[in-house]
Amino acid sequence: MVSSISYSVFTAYFFVFLSIFFVTSNGFFYEELTEGIAIKRTEKTSHLHFYFHDIVGGKNPTAVKIAGPLNSTGYGFGSTLIMDDALTEGPERTSKLVGRAQGLYAIAAQEDVSLLMVVNFAFMEGEYNGSSISILGRNPVLNDVREMPIVGGSGLFRFASGYALAHTIWFDSKTGDATVEYNVYVTTNEVS
Ligand SMILES: *[C@@H]1O[C@H](CO)[C@@H](O)[C@H](O)[C@H]1NC(C)=O
Ligand SMILES: *[C@@H]1O[C@H](CO)[C@@H](O)[C@H](O)[C@H]1NC(C)=O
Repeated sequence: MVSSISYSVFTAYFFVFLSIFFVTSNGFFYEELTEGIAIKRTEKTSHLHFYFHDIVGGKNPTAVKIAGPLNSTGYGFGSTLIMDDALTEGPERTSKLVGRAQGLYAIAAQEDVSLLMVVNFAFMEGEYNGSSISILGRNPVLNDVREMPIVGGSGLFRFASGYALAHTIWFDSKTGDATVEYNVYVTTNEVS
């Protein structure tokens, strides 16, 4: 199971005015619907905790370089990798798989090792199986804890917002492989 704590932050009633327009390419069929309806909105925040395994070296890498300058400067400025990294329940690579981190990262800084992260965490375990969150953020990998924004999600994480905290627990400087602990706080709004 993905370790998660869910709790309702608040429940509120909102009056919204819905405007729906139907326009088809065949002529100008047009319907405008304006109605005041009561909506019950529940904001829910979940805490997810898992480990991310980035394998760059060896025969079976899970992150591969797809672009970058031939002779890069600094710490590899411009190097861009695409990943399909395992997310596991515990810190060992052999621990139970709870999802995959699919996306890319690029070294987007000239004077330190800051990555641009564009990644979807696709979950495969428990109630979150089939749901995903999307992260777009800056990851200065040498910092102890890095915060990255959650910009959206799908499935149970539709309308997601929140943040992810990344903390490297293991790094092999020879291969570049790393294990990173993630604490993710994701908020969704359920409308009923
Ligand atoms: C890369 O560096 C090598 C050795 O310094 C040089 O011969 C080569 O022309 C450089 N390539 C580019 C694309 O700058
Ligand atoms: C997750 O969902 C897929 C597709 O519905 C299913 O094949 C798989 O067995 C599920 N995995 C778990 C761990 O429930």
